[in-house]
Amino acid sequence: MNVTVAKSAGFCFGVRRAVDLVYEQTHIPGALYTYGPIIHNEEVVDDLEKKGVKVIQSADELDSLERGRVIIRSHGVGKDVQTQLEQAGFEVLDATCPFVKKIHRIVEEHSVAGDHIIIIGNPTHPEVQGICGWCDPEHTTVIETIQDAENFRLSEKKNLCIVSQTTYNNKKFKNLVEIIQNKGYYIAVCILNTICNATAERQAQTRELAKESDAMIVIGGSHSSNTQKLFEICKDECKNTYYIQTLEDLDPTELRGLGNVGITAGASTPNNIIEEVQKYVRNEL
Ligand code: F3S
Repeated sequence: MNVTVAKSAGFCFGVRRAVDLVYEQTHIPGALYTYGPIIHNEEVVDDLEKKGVKVIQSADELDSLERGRVIIRSHGVGKDVQTQLEQAGFEVLDATCPFVKKIHRIVEEHSVAGDHIIIIGNPTHPEVQGICGWCDPEHTTVIETIQDAENFRLSEKKNLCIVSQTTYNNKKFKNLVEIIQNKGYYIAVCILNTICNATAERQAQTRELAKESDAMIVIGGSHSSNTQKLFEICKDECKNTYYIQTLEDLDPTELRGLGNVGITAGASTPNNIIEEVQKYVRNEL
């Protein structure tokens, strides 16, 4: 049996970097926290908890905590949160994805210059909330839907700076930008498509692999929307597609006698689970 794992299966570069940093830091004595769960994967968060890593849910908890190191996850945080942590005496280790950090720098520069900032994305997503925290709140608008774009108003003409949440959809971004531009509330407009292509790349590679495979195994949490999307893509190309969370969910009888098996995984699936599945399929079937 040939077993191929999609190159981009599992963590993207930014998440891997953040998770690796936390594991590295567990070897150093002293209180260690992450600001929010480092990743939406309970196994990883539980494993880190066993190694002594605690999760800070909000800045309100800071006073009661032993001082130590706080790791900022790949989504990033606003400038106020970072300052609050530092002023409270914590050592801040910033694992904000460099692609997100770049957006912080862009919006901060444009805000200081007096421009109005438009962030295309989901206003409740921590990444978007973090980006907002580098802008002047009086002159910032988050736009998520066509309705939001149509409702957008400014009382005076200003320079506009438009950026995007890194995981936003390219086509929707272009549509929303067009609606905003047609309103003409600007002197000049600076449009920065800050969408990261990690998700699109993972999906494209998965599709290619599914086309060549007799069976596909998709690994990821049952509530992970990006894993569900990978499952749909695989199902389109390969009818023997199986969605599992861990090796225990795999039914070996489904795969016996097949020639090519492909494996892909959602963005929050740790490498050790992917490797375990890969080894099992390669050696035991
Ligand atoms: Fe991941 Fe950073 Fe892109 S966290 S999805 S590589 S913006």
